[in-house]
Amino acid sequence: MHLDNHTSQASDLLDPSIQGQAFDDKNINPEFSKKYFIESYGCAMNFSDSEIVASILAQEGFKSTTNEKEADLILLNTCSIREKAEQTVRSRLANFNKLKAKKPGVLIGVLGCMAERLKKKFLEEEKIVDIVLGPDAYRDLPNIIATAEGGQKAVNVLLSREETYADISPLRLGTNGISAFISIMRGCDNMCSFCVVPFTRGRERSRDAYSIVAEAKDLSQKGFKEVTLLGQNVDSYKWLNPETNEEVSFAQLLVMVAKVDPTMRVRFSTSHPKDITDEVMYAIRDYHNICKYIHLPVQSGSSRILKLMNRTYDQEWYKAKIDRINEIIPDCAISSDIITGFCTETEEDHQETMDIMRYSNYSLSYMFFYSERPGTLAARKYEDDVPLEVKKRRLSEVIRVQNQVAHELNKKDIGHTFEVLIEGNSKKSDQEFKGRTSQYKTVVFPKHENYKPGDYVNVKITAASPATLRGEIILS
Ligand code: SAH
Ligand code: SF4
Ligand code: F3S
Repeated sequence: MHLDNHTSQASDLLDPSIQGQAFDDKNINPEFSKKYFIESYGCAMNFSDSEIVASILAQEGFKSTTNEKEADLILLNTCSIREKAEQTVRSRLANFNKLKAKKPGVLIGVLGCMAERLKKKFLEEEKIVDIVLGPDAYRDLPNIIATAEGGQKAVNVLLSREETYADISPLRLGTNGISAFISIMRGCDNMCSFCVVPFTRGRERSRDAYSIVAEAKDLSQKGFKEVTLLGQNVDSYKWLNPETNEEVSFAQLLVMVAKVDPTMRVRFSTSHPKDITDEVMYAIRDYHNICKYIHLPVQSGSSRILKLMNRTYDQEWYKAKIDRINEIIPDCAISSDIITGFCTETEEDHQETMDIMRYSNYSLSYMFFYSERPGTLAARKYEDDVPLEVKKRRLSEVIRVQNQVAHELNKKDIGHTFEVLIEGNSKKSDQEFKGRTSQYKTVVFPKHENYKPGDYVNVKITAASPATLRGEIILS
């Protein structure tokens, strides 16, 4: 779920170049010609939220633009996960304020996690924005815009226990027409000690299962070939059907979505090692279109550090989960998130992290050095005592291990044939396609006239690097 990572391999679950999309609504006053520009940072959840915001703005008659200079309303959907993420947002805000100096009518708004964390600070102390809107307050956007246009301070950072935006149909931004996100829950109740998300996103709540299935059907009818179900901890999805009083679990939801269209792939992110169940693994095993890929962040391999992180599992528990996945779904790829240099981490703890990476054979990891976040449990209770250069050196060692592990794993795919969903041209050549296997591995291969993006094709793997497979189409 990370799009701002400084890792050996960037996630392109979605193209981060956010593009606008025209929206046709007959009720809109044809005289109204205001344009908005929206830019998103952080996890997939934020990118998904921007599509809710875009939908709300379209209802108000706003048109989107990909050129900030043209916009009447500039929105930044922000992330607080690490200090660096916040710094990026600050430098973007500085740019937008330069723009505003030349065009004073423009409104600048911050949305998302930084808005929630800093509340009125940007508005009242720093005076660098006109609008502050937290992740549960997007329905209030039309009012807030009106307030800001009237020259008033426009802020709403109320968190909700119920809001899931279930009835708002997202306006797909920057879409390739092939893959889309579906948000299935919001918030997080886990309180990992390093993490700011429970403070910025509030309590965990699950969205109506039928609205999720309806969204998947709509995407299938529009020709989409892949949906990714999003939540901070999807395995704790739990929705009580008010009509039947029956509970829908994540495994059940996965199957409901998989049945919508057997030719549409279903992915999900993120799983928590403490909550993933055998039922989820059986669903992956039994349904061809549920992808054989689990993102199961370990964070650290040391039981002592895991305890300080409040992850509620230890090394043995995690390894047992890896064993279970391998037993039930032998061809499943597993990926991870890793933090180096958490409070009190020793060289031995660090070695244990690298050991568990080798044990787990991750196909991919998103790796970070620890960044203390104000207000979190760790910031209040523990000293951030690992020097920055040690954190960074351990990060580079972890990245090296990840590359080795992924390379070895990928080499085993040589000679095997995989079903690949074609996403488009490869980065390097328009003579080649790139696509992904069910295992979320990127495959590059020469084009063939019978196939286009959005098609499935069988590709025989001929070469492997740590990040990519190469292959050839097998014509059926
Ligand atoms: N809900 C997901 C992760 C959300 S945040 C989960 O539980 O796995 C994404 C990743 O950012 C985390 O998995 C963690 O590896 C990293 N992260 C979170 N807080 C961090 C911090 N304070 N410093 C460095 N990395 C952090
Ligand atoms: Fe943060 Fe932990 Fe919740 Fe993930 S599970 S969002 S790391 S508190
Ligand atoms: Fe996501 Fe960043 Fe917020 S990772 S939940 S946008 S703090």
